[in-house]
Amino acid sequence: MAEPTRTAKLTIDDKVIDLPIKSGTIGPDVLDIRKLYAEADVFTYDPGFTSTAACESTITYIDGDKGELLYRGYPIEQLADQSHYLEVCYLLLHGELPSGAQMRDFETRITRHTMLHEQIHYFVRGFRRDSHPMATMVGVVGAMSAFYHDSLDITDPWHREVASIRMIAKLPTIAAMAYKYSVGQPFIYPKNSLDYAANFLHMCFAVPSEEYVVDPRLAKAMDRIMMLHADHEQNASTSTVRLAGSSGANPFACIAAGIACLWGPAHGGANQACLEMLREIGTVDRIPEYIRRAKDHDDPFRLMGFGHRVYKNFDPRAKVMKESADEVLGLMGIENNPTLQVAKELERIALEDDYFISKKLYPNVDFYSGIILDAMGFPTSMFTPIFALSRTVGWISQWKEMIGDPTQKIGRPRQLYTGAAMRDYVDVHHR
Ligand code: ACO
Repeated sequence: MAEPTRTAKLTIDDKVIDLPIKSGTIGPDVLDIRKLYAEADVFTYDPGFTSTAACESTITYIDGDKGELLYRGYPIEQLADQSHYLEVCYLLLHGELPSGAQMRDFETRITRHTMLHEQIHYFVRGFRRDSHPMATMVGVVGAMSAFYHDSLDITDPWHREVASIRMIAKLPTIAAMAYKYSVGQPFIYPKNSLDYAANFLHMCFAVPSEEYVVDPRLAKAMDRIMMLHADHEQNASTSTVRLAGSSGANPFACIAAGIACLWGPAHGGANQACLEMLREIGTVDRIPEYIRRAKDHDDPFRLMGFGHRVYKNFDPRAKVMKESADEVLGLMGIENNPTLQVAKELERIALEDDYFISKKLYPNVDFYSGIILDAMGFPTSMFTPIFALSRTVGWISQWKEMIGDPTQKIGRPRQLYTGAAMRDYVDVHHR
């Protein structure tokens, strides 16, 4: 980032404070307020970080008004059409697209790390069978720090690299195990002859008693879903990973924290909530009732899969996802799926409705992803785990960027205190 040449002037009472204005490659400028407290004895107040850039980053850029998403400068639509998930992982981690040799080396390294320490199988068996797969994933990924002691030193670049490769490689295995355990089927070991997405489908849907051949068209659709979810700037779970990592916590603990945050229905949990909502609506004639509820301030109901903190236009991932939904349902021969019909009609009605237009509420990535995953045979409880395994590379890239940033400090927000002023303790007999 170039040294600031402009400053903003902040006047508090009769004191004027100069705040440097910094510019990125694209996107809004930022006011550098790091010296504000020291110079003016005030904090800024921004719950939900709606106007706060918490770090400098070179990985992902979103233009929310245009509905544009770039990974390392490349538009998501181009990557979704022409690239594949592991190439996108390389791009996010290293900043550039790989050469042929770099790609082969990266693929080999990921493929060789797909198996888990055998003891983890027993650890997973300790969970209740009806545990949500996200609960199992938070626990197992956090526990990886108890299994891989040789990649915990965050000051050692080699440890960081090995931990990164391990997590990208093993998350699909963990998610598939969580699923198999919940349906009472035996764990299926990774098959290294398959590519990343096909291997995941195989671990989820194969059984030891018969041959299971992954449909390459479904593997491609899964790979696309993974690409679309790979990174998304400083969203809640990524910020959680950065905040956890800022204290020097080990990488497995940081990613487990990210998974925990992703689980919420306002974030990654929305894909499960969205499909459940579409099923609850059931038929197109019931849509107006749900639109009315979504607009009613006294009703906590929200249209799941609609709205986004940053996108005030179509989420570009939702557009690609909608095409994929048509393709996948077409090839499964279920184009007339009632859930898809409800989704399309709901989208049409909402996009013409003044409430949604005035608040700039458009479908987000979660609106169509659940329909595709459902058609592939996944239960709704697996939707957020699939988001988590796809986002792992983004979390890791952001975590590594933070560790390498010389200006990095422990994340420690301040507050506007509105509690009691100092008062004296009163003995229980006198209260
Ligand atoms: N349905 C109905 N009204 C909505 C919706 C919705 N889905 N989303 C926002 N609004 C309304 C709010 O009620 C609010 O109205 P008001 O100004 O009259 O009070 C206004 O739009 C702004 O909403 P906020 O909640 O202030 O916006 P915020 O940026 O904080 O929230 C969020 C964004 C959490 C994504 C929100 O749109 C939402 O809850 N959507 C549904 C859940 C969802 O799909 N989440 C997935 C996000 S994408 C992802 O994480 C992968």
